[in-house]
Amino acid sequence: MTHDMAKLFALREHDHYAIHRRHLNEQMVRVLKAIGYDVGFCSGKGQYLYDRDGNRYLDLLSGFGVFAIGRNHPALCEALKSVLDSDLPNLVQMDVSTLAGILAERLLAHVPYLDKVCFVNSGSETVEAAIKFARAATGRPGILYCEHAFHGLSNGALSLNGDDIFREGFEPLLPNCVRIPFNDLIALEKALHSRTIAAFIVEPIQGKGVNVPDDDYLKLAADLCRRHGTLFVADEVQTGLGRTGRFLAVEYWNVEPDMVLLAKTLSGGHVPVGAVLTRKWIFDKVFDRMERAVAHGSTFGTNDLAMAAGIATLDVLKSEQLVEKAAQTGERLLRAFTEMTQRYEFLREARGKGLMIGMELVKDRTDKEPAKKLCDALITRAYHNGLILLSCGQSTVRFMPPLVIDEGDVDEAVALLEQSLTEVLASEHAH
Ligand SMILES: Cc1ncc(COP(=O)(O)O)c(C=O)c1O
Repeated sequence: MTHDMAKLFALREHDHYAIHRRHLNEQMVRVLKAIGYDVGFCSGKGQYLYDRDGNRYLDLLSGFGVFAIGRNHPALCEALKSVLDSDLPNLVQMDVSTLAGILAERLLAHVPYLDKVCFVNSGSETVEAAIKFARAATGRPGILYCEHAFHGLSNGALSLNGDDIFREGFEPLLPNCVRIPFNDLIALEKALHSRTIAAFIVEPIQGKGVNVPDDDYLKLAADLCRRHGTLFVADEVQTGLGRTGRFLAVEYWNVEPDMVLLAKTLSGGHVPVGAVLTRKWIFDKVFDRMERAVAHGSTFGTNDLAMAAGIATLDVLKSEQLVEKAAQTGERLLRAFTEMTQRYEFLREARGKGLMIGMELVKDRTDKEPAKKLCDALITRAYHNGLILLSCGQSTVRFMPPLVIDEGDVDEAVALLEQSLTEVLASEHAH
């Protein structure tokens, strides 16, 4: 029996599809085979992945956004190894965690209007906590969410999912969850009117489709919520911690939410973690007496490895100025994509902020019908040319690279995308 995981990986990597077909998600293996995504990745460093033949891929997906500081960043690895090497008193439970205190202090320094943190294990769990906290704080049952929203797939988070494909087969979900269109203040005000709504939970920029709201939307939405006694909760699980070129995306619009939800990037890509940042009065309604000291939480919430990953990630974001860098490289990428949309009739629009960018493909610009087949073909072709991408929404290519990409990577991504597009069009003509 070896405890050397790299050796074990090398030993079994060749039949990882077979093991998954047998014991894990067979449909996922079928999808990967169908689209030719079966090269066998063997290592990852920074913004790159390498397959078993040593080919390099530029990763514009970053594990759904968890590798903001790049894969296997030396500072992160050092922090995690230091925890394992030091026999720290992890998860005593009848104690409070020192590393959790440090991480909370450092997170809150970025959001001076918030006072408290609750650590959990994933993005979905931050949403579950936000639903509970909002209900406890307001005494109201209702939760508002948006069409096309994605807040995770656990039961409460799924109740706020704006796409039926994820909900199918799992209903009935949580009652009192009300769906409204994104970027629609009139619908929001109408829904708030009942004064039964505990919280409006919203992504500042929606991941599914990379939908950016009008400039005044979030500010006015937060004001409306405040006037109706409803908490305004920003789900920054994807947009937070530099992704959009600001520490939080809400900073673009000077919004101060009652709760901010973080996960993904905070993990450094290695140790699952989520953080709910909130106002003191909300926290105090949940944990309102000694018997309620454990009213919400989770066994692993403040585990040392997760806290160390968070601390190291914040350090790297700061020391490498990755938030500012994301704003600059994102601008370069968006400019190049926008220029591309002017040359191809079916590229309707490139949109986004920082390094969260979407390019929407349509059959025809006038009727805006989604070009789903073209989008899928482009993503598959790009993969064979060394670019890892994903689609989102109906027919939008999503770009969510590690924040460490440089100008050379941006230029390479644009060139490879255009090459892939040309090849897809040529093969369509040939058929
Ligand atoms: C905005 C948002 N919220 C919540 C989640 C759920 O996070 P997790 O997959 O860590 O549960 C996601 C995941 O993609 C997300 O993008």
